[in-house]
Amino acid sequence: MLSPAYKIYIEGKWVDSGTRKTFDSLNPATEKSIGKFQEGNEDDVKKAIDAAEHAFPAWSSVPAPKRGAILQRIAELLKKDKERLGRLETTEMGKVLKEGLGDVQEAIDIFEYMAGEGRRLFGHTTTSELKEKFAMTIRRPVGVMGLITPWNFPIAIPSWKMSAALICGNTIVIKPSSDTPLCAIELVKIIEKAGVPSGVVNLVTGPASSVGQEIVKNRKIDGISFTGSRETGEWIIANAGVKKVGLELGGKNPIIIMDDANLDLALDGVVWAAFGTTGQRCTACSRLLVHSEVKERFMIMLQAKAQKLKVGDGLKKETDVGPLINKAAVEKTERYVALGNEQGAKLCCGGTKPAGKGFFYLPTIFENVTPDMKIAQEEIFGPVLSVIEFKTLDEAIRIANGTEYGLSSSIYTNNIRNSMRAIEGIESGITYVNAPTIGAEVHLPFGGVKKTGFTREAGIEGIDEFSHSKTIYIDYSGKLQKAQIDVE
Ligand code: UN1
Repeated sequence: MLSPAYKIYIEGKWVDSGTRKTFDSLNPATEKSIGKFQEGNEDDVKKAIDAAEHAFPAWSSVPAPKRGAILQRIAELLKKDKERLGRLETTEMGKVLKEGLGDVQEAIDIFEYMAGEGRRLFGHTTTSELKEKFAMTIRRPVGVMGLITPWNFPIAIPSWKMSAALICGNTIVIKPSSDTPLCAIELVKIIEKAGVPSGVVNLVTGPASSVGQEIVKNRKIDGISFTGSRETGEWIIANAGVKKVGLELGGKNPIIIMDDANLDLALDGVVWAAFGTTGQRCTACSRLLVHSEVKERFMIMLQAKAQKLKVGDGLKKETDVGPLINKAAVEKTERYVALGNEQGAKLCCGGTKPAGKGFFYLPTIFENVTPDMKIAQEEIFGPVLSVIEFKTLDEAIRIANGTEYGLSSSIYTNNIRNSMRAIEGIESGITYVNAPTIGAEVHLPFGGVKKTGFTREAGIEGIDEFSHSKTIYIDYSGKLQKAQIDVE
């Protein structure tokens, strides 16, 4: 009997997992299942890897502009399907609809951007120290890439990785998050429809403990690109063996508000960065550093605005803040709120979940937070903002840098000196001036420093993650010339 569940995609065919087991993906607003998905295992991954390996020689020798044309078709198909995919994302992941549509738009943008890269993929040419010798670099694909993607941008992040991997000529085994497998499946269906040959993209759903681990450990995988938790990232580093590994492992992103800032502007930015997507962004603002001169005034404004936010199903027009992704995320948020209370922070608003179905949690703000508290150090990935007061910019930068993470950051100030000092002084991959910590654009590099990982995705730098530079020397002198030895 045919299983009613969604399938996995291996060598151009939608098939059942050998396990014959399935799992459900829930709508976090209703806790109802949106479908059954294959609980894949190591064998499925091995088949997917074989398919990807088999497809590699042909795909990597397709001229890059032709691969680009296929990527452009993917972008066009995504555009046509934007509304449906946005709604699907809202249903599966819980984002409010305009954020779901924004996620699809980010996918369209990156496929268009990488399609254009098909006509660039620049290496460089340079001089040689010897006569009649030519030196240059060209881009070569990594090989079979294992992509492990999170649920918080369930269409955009798989698209960042797949578009860059494909334009460089790699083949792919992707494991989407078990919280959002349907978004990834719909994306792969579009990739299939656009004419990506069979075996080039393979998708296996299932648990990290089997599917994820096999992708990381399998020696036929040449590169891994992972976005997710720091614990998993550290496990990958320890277990991947010799592979090209790209990691983006979250943040504890600060916004600094100086005493000369436009507070109305800062207010809009803080609320959007802290509570947009219910705080479930690697780039979400989870630490607010406010100058003591303006703190009291700003806190009154902030509390009033946060309390007005409507929490609910993202498909409803009036909703500002959707649910968290799952029960475990609610429990994690509850644990951190308890820790905040225990460690002496002052709860200003929120701090509880509303009654009824759905994985909801109220926008929560703690003040009188000190930089060493757990709520100021660890990534919560929920709607919890920790407010820390400071007196000088030096102190603010020190606090901003006082966590192990370094993804995004922001400063609100009208003073050019303050902003330049923050740009240079904050240890993070991204700094915004007079704008919130979220909303990165696809033609600029995205990634962090320190324990966030040093990988860059999107933009030109994104190409580096999915290719390597091959160095070419062409000696047309007709004689043996020795670098470093023929010095005269
Ligand atoms: C993430 O949360 O992992 O800058 C990605 C932003 C989005 C991407 C976030 N464009 O917030």
